[in-house]
Amino acid sequence: MYRQMYYATNSFASNKKITMKRLTNKVVFITGGSRGIGAGIAKRMAAEGADVVITYVHAADQAKQVVDEIKKSGQQALAIAVDNASPDAIHAAIEKAVATFGRIDILVNNAGIYVAKPLAEYTVADFDTTMAVNVRAVFLASQKAAQYMKEGGRIITIGSNMAERVAFPTGSLYAMSKTALIGLTKGLARDLGGKGITVNMIQPGPVDTDMNPADGAHADILRNAMAIPTYGKPEDIAELATYLASETSRFMTGASLTIDGGFSI
Ligand SMILES: NC(=O)c1ccc[n+]([C@@H]2O[C@H](COP(=O)([O-])OP(=O)(O)OC[C@H]3O[C@@H](n4cnc5c(N)ncnc54)[C@H](OP(=O)(O)O)[C@@H]3O)[C@@H](O)[C@H]2O)c1
Repeated sequence: MYRQMYYATNSFASNKKITMKRLTNKVVFITGGSRGIGAGIAKRMAAEGADVVITYVHAADQAKQVVDEIKKSGQQALAIAVDNASPDAIHAAIEKAVATFGRIDILVNNAGIYVAKPLAEYTVADFDTTMAVNVRAVFLASQKAAQYMKEGGRIITIGSNMAERVAFPTGSLYAMSKTALIGLTKGLARDLGGKGITVNMIQPGPVDTDMNPADGAHADILRNAMAIPTYGKPEDIAELATYLASETSRFMTGASLTIDGGFSI
């Protein structure tokens, strides 16, 4: 009897899994969606039924490939050239997304840069650019997108496990910028909780992308510091982002979730 119930429940659950998409009728805006983690999130959220806007700076061809792939799968998609260092460009892109799709339900602040230098070589421009792209743009995009979000809106930011552990030199500015996002996430969660909008952050560890290739010069050092000595894939981060974007995460806000193969423990 118990066994029959077990099978019945599981076959019902698996039928549901096949038919139900988690982001049907949602519009998602992803900064830096032409490559790497952002492209992975874009494709995954489209597979869950969302229409997708991605931004890019240089990789126009790759952005077009992501858009074409999403359109082939049956969802709508749009790529907009935006440098996150420009406040006007961020605002204009969000307005264009709303003009095109009517609204934004989910914002993914993914775009980020890593200026790695010995301390003595950092310039004021390195400091300012890091903060403009990695922090100011997250604030500006969140502030603007929230104006258009209704109850159930979601803001998800891609931080870094370097906000938790800086295991080697040359990452001061990057670690500073990603740590600032923990406070911003908590503050925005308080600002927007009353509107039913959640704000959360994902802090990845080593993920195989152009920023941090699994065959790069420092990859073995990173692997040796992990509990699971293997690089993550953009899909691993996209899975967590999809959960945070979905209705089922409604009770979670202000959280910074580390997903790094145990690098920080
Ligand atoms: N990979 C890792 O191991 C890792 C670990 C922890 C956290 N992260 C974080 O995850 C996020 C994505 O990283 P990734 O590894 O996917 O990086 P990536 O492979 O270098 O891709 C970066 C993406 O961001 C875009 N971008 C770069 N500068 C931008 C700017 N100024 N304005 C707007 N978009 C910009 C790029 O667009 P174009 O190509 O068109 O220029 C590209 O789509 C970043 O926030 C990063 O800090 C990554």
